[in-house]
Amino acid sequence: MLVIHTKQELAEQIVEWRHNDEHIALVPTMGNLHAGHLSLVELAREHAERVVVSIFVNPTQFGKDEDYEQYPRTLELDKRRLKTATADMIFAPDVATLYPFGLDKATTVSVPGLTENFCGATRPGHFDGVTTVVARLFAIVQPDVAVFGQKDYQQQLVIRRMAEDLSLPITIITGETVRNDDGLAMSSRNSYLSDEERAVAPVLYETLSYIGQELQSGRRNFAKLEALAGERLTAAGFDVDYFAIRRALNLEVPDRDCDDLVVLTAAQLGAARLIDNIVITI
Ligand code: PAJ
Repeated sequence: MLVIHTKQELAEQIVEWRHNDEHIALVPTMGNLHAGHLSLVELAREHAERVVVSIFVNPTQFGKDEDYEQYPRTLELDKRRLKTATADMIFAPDVATLYPFGLDKATTVSVPGLTENFCGATRPGHFDGVTTVVARLFAIVQPDVAVFGQKDYQQQLVIRRMAEDLSLPITIITGETVRNDDGLAMSSRNSYLSDEERAVAPVLYETLSYIGQELQSGRRNFAKLEALAGERLTAAGFDVDYFAIRRALNLEVPDRDCDDLVVLTAAQLGAARLIDNIVITI
């Protein structure tokens, strides 16, 4: 597996693969890889002969009081993990490589509408940072396919919209959320939880699942279900940012007869901001 840090080395390798008519899949990550990321690599494998995993802790998507500095950077460990997941290349650029004119003068890509609510409301500028870095990675790697996780539901919708709106010739694929045995979605930020908080954390997915069952069984009082879930999470010790039942297609408020729903939540537990969601097809 190649480990590449510069655009030039990357370009040389991409030219060679293209010359051999090989398709390229990109899995963008911020590293500290876990089984969720590795499942995206396996999914990418199914769609292209060559798989590139980018590892870059992107400063522009972190708010100024957020965890950019503390975010775990574990490149050596990530290399070992990716060998077993059979990636062809790690692309691990530094900040100056991805933002050659500096962070303040960077051209930005912004998707209005879809980014206004939920994580976009709580983390102003976050999605602009995500779309800006993903657009750069797309331009540098020029993949045929890019794979994102359902875990970050709003993020994958925003990236799909960006790709469609800019007519990018890239197929966006969404991989299922990988969970621990107790249901907690795998996340690099789970490492911020104390042992006690870690024991409470599965309540997030339990609550999503409970609301999912209620929706499946025909309950349609969305506001009541959202309030009930919020109470459960607060009682368990979460500081709830949002818990919402929305249209899976576009995060709009659903009608009673909508048969494609997503239940999304974000909640703070100690030092960790946990997000999760489930999609309900009725
Ligand atoms: P990161 O949090 O490292 O996640 C990289 C990819 O892994 C994202 O598409 C995310 O949705 C997916 N992922 C995370 N946890 C997962 C899980 N438990 N199961 C399945 N997939 C999971 O998301 C980002 O990085 C960044 O915003 C990025 C897109 C790389 C832009 O900087």
